[in-house]
Amino acid sequence: MKTTKYSDLLVIAICTLTLISPIYGQTPTVNVLAPAQLNLMPVPASVQIQTGRLPIHSSFNVAVKNYADDRLRAGIARMLTRLAGRTVLTLPADLATDEGAATLVVQCEGAGEIIPSLSENESYTLEINDSKARLAAPTVVGALRGLETFLQLLEGDRDGYYLPAIKIQDQPRFPWRGLLIDVARHYEPMEVLKRNLNAMAAVKLNVFHWHLTEDQGFRVESKKFPKLHTLGSDGLFYTQDQVREIIAYARDRGIRVMPEFDIPGHSTSWLVAYPEIGSAPGPYKIERGAGIFEPALDPTREQTYKFLDGFLGEMAGLFPDAYMHIGGDENEGKQWDRNPQIQAFMKEKGIKDNHALQAYFNQRILKILQKHHKKMIGWDEILHPDLPQDAVIQSWRGPSSLAEAAKKGYNGILSAGYYIDLIFPAAQHYLADPIPADTSLTPDEAKHILGGEATMWGEWVSPETIDSRIWPRTAAIAERLWSPRNVTGIEDMYRRLAVVSRELEELGLTHEKNYGMLLRRLAASENTGPLRTLASIVEPVKQYRRYQMRPQTMLSPLTGLVDAARPDSETARHFTSNVDAFLSDAPRFTLYRSDLERTLAEWQTASRALGPMIDQSPALQEARPLANNLSAIADAGLEAISYLSSGSAPTTEWRQAQLARLDEAAKPKAALEFVVITSVRELVIAAGELPQLRSMTPAEWKKRVNTQATPGKN
Ligand code: ACM
Repeated sequence: MKTTKYSDLLVIAICTLTLISPIYGQTPTVNVLAPAQLNLMPVPASVQIQTGRLPIHSSFNVAVKNYADDRLRAGIARMLTRLAGRTVLTLPADLATDEGAATLVVQCEGAGEIIPSLSENESYTLEINDSKARLAAPTVVGALRGLETFLQLLEGDRDGYYLPAIKIQDQPRFPWRGLLIDVARHYEPMEVLKRNLNAMAAVKLNVFHWHLTEDQGFRVESKKFPKLHTLGSDGLFYTQDQVREIIAYARDRGIRVMPEFDIPGHSTSWLVAYPEIGSAPGPYKIERGAGIFEPALDPTREQTYKFLDGFLGEMAGLFPDAYMHIGGDENEGKQWDRNPQIQAFMKEKGIKDNHALQAYFNQRILKILQKHHKKMIGWDEILHPDLPQDAVIQSWRGPSSLAEAAKKGYNGILSAGYYIDLIFPAAQHYLADPIPADTSLTPDEAKHILGGEATMWGEWVSPETIDSRIWPRTAAIAERLWSPRNVTGIEDMYRRLAVVSRELEELGLTHEKNYGMLLRRLAASENTGPLRTLASIVEPVKQYRRYQMRPQTMLSPLTGLVDAARPDSETARHFTSNVDAFLSDAPRFTLYRSDLERTLAEWQTASRALGPMIDQSPALQEARPLANNLSAIADAGLEAISYLSSGSAPTTEWRQAQLARLDEAAKPKAALEFVVITSVRELVIAAGELPQLRSMTPAEWKKRVNTQATPGKN
């Protein structure tokens, strides 16, 4: 029997890659290769791979032991549906009555928390041998987590489907692992929320942070103050029955639902109906732009607190979660500065600035929440010496502000680093750790860090595109929050992320299929080939540059090329890695040469075909400069490879001309940017540096090339 800890698997993975590398031309043995192929995400706390396999036939069945309720039975039924879907096997619909005859025995010890909570025990163990799988968990939620792992273990080969023999013991590193969905900037229909809850469960996330109110929309029905949702939402809101439906759906999957009502800023939509609680007389209109706006609730009037007591009290009855999020971010207090009555109030009470006034407001809100048996959570800005210790801080400003809160004794969660709306690659999010290895926190202080949340801010997502902004990258964040800190291998993360991404499709996620749909609509044709080629190597501009480059409102359609293009281009990643290998193969330059030439030739062909395509489709006009750039990129790359392969150095003029064209191509257009420029620049510089290769080792030379090609390095 061979046992392997997961931490060893990465080593095995690396060895395996070395073994199969064409440089060495050796053939790996199946035994060495197999463990590296586990596709678990998040990686469990402990994995021991054993010899053997459990075949999956149509006789596969499940028995439950000790405790089972509707939630567990429904979870098993969902797992069976997915297993059947993947294997195309017709599986028995009913649970087995005889534990001895069952293929999978789920042994659960109890219901766990009735309302999903921070103290839920999510641990489980999973043992699989040649004839049986046993999943044991103290709670139903632990069992649900284990069922997801079970499904991720499914493999297939010429002998059929099977699960590897294995022993897994697992529990999360952090108890708070969330996804914020902003449904206020753009409303998201119920099915969008449900499929995202399914995806969250698949990667073991456990908090749906429902950002329900904003300047641009008030999305929850209030029976006490119905004008809030009727006037503040364009008719796009969740009824209280729908809210209960989402809460039940999430609970079935072991997910908390925490609502956010963002106050005192970000509150224009409230004031459309109730200007009397605002800090300026109004009237107010639903905000259609993106950004930070002035409207803020008036913290000096008793009427405001009476209103909030009524509204938050009503919401406290609707949402069973222990926490209520009050936002608190980005209130610049401009309305406060201009309001003489607010200024007089501050003077009278000795409140020295707007931050202190917001702290006063927060204390009043805290009392309201306490009265309604809720704990308060808010963004960084709520941190203030007067803030009571049982408030939780959600840090969007960075790990240091989170650490500062923890040192002061506040519990906190990290979101800085997990802003998926910024369009950064998964690798970047993956390496943001709520408690980094070099933390300045003592072990006791570190206990205040409860976890983190990915944030899907909604300015630029529609029901058609939101999945592609959340997935698959959020699965990497889910791993960061669940798995041991030392699970940090980027390559292995991406390998598994691609598998998880496909598995998410079986849950109805549209991040893959809508890509093709959006491109077909833009091209007004089935034949999207060239457009797909272009879209595969551009990404929407990062951070918040999109709005600056291509101003739109919340009423604009999100159907442009920037909406079809996705973050974290896999094509670009492969291209970069091939260029890297090709240049490492100096002075022969044969490795991946034909792949690179094929890819670049495809770009060249696509750039030619794009012109007529754009002529036919006015919606694509903005892509014309990108099509021209694509041709420049492809030419530069192909010519550089030709120089490198023939060993003849180009002229300085050639090099200057190519770099100038690449610089032009690197400028974002239509809020899109090419993500292959650095690699092509490397090829051009490498060709120009060929004479130096004679006097340097290939490694020194490659370093020199890389330094010159990477912006910011030279
Ligand atoms: C935030 O990003 N303003 C919380």
